[in-house]
Amino acid sequence: MTERTVVLIKPDGFTKKVVGQVIDRFERAGLSLVGLKMVQLTQEILDIWYAHHKDKPFFPDLCKQMMSTPVVAIVLEGDNAIQKVFDICGPTDPAEALPGTIRHDFGVDKPHNVVHRSDNAEAAAKEIC
Ligand code: CMP
Repeated sequence: MTERTVVLIKPDGFTKKVVGQVIDRFERAGLSLVGLKMVQLTQEILDIWYAHHKDKPFFPDLCKQMMSTPVVAIVLEGDNAIQKVFDICGPTDPAEALPGTIRHDFGVDKPHNVVHRSDNAEAAAKEIC
């Protein structure tokens, strides 16, 4: 099934200058780039985007980190795109990610895990705007 999903290349990926390499991995997997913009996130956007994390102890630091530089927001399309992107990124914690995944290869820890990706089809629909 053809799906669309969102990836944010976070400030740590932006600062490390791996934006091109991250996008390359999705394109090599056969996914098509159908949207791309550079965005300066604000607290108002993050309150909505990360509403499900608002009560977590790491939320203030997460927001500070996410606003520290612009992020690159991309929309990817392809067959089974949500699961494919999930697999290419790896799990939230880079320490648990397999070699060859974006988060293993470029990430440091949970707050600095290079990318955000939609959790599921419902989240993807909400995040594409
Ligand atoms: P992301 O996929 O953007 O979704 C929410 C983000 O919160 C997550 O990636 C991590 O960067 C961050 N995060 C999740 N769990 C923790 C945690 N236990 N401590 C610090 N940051 C976290």
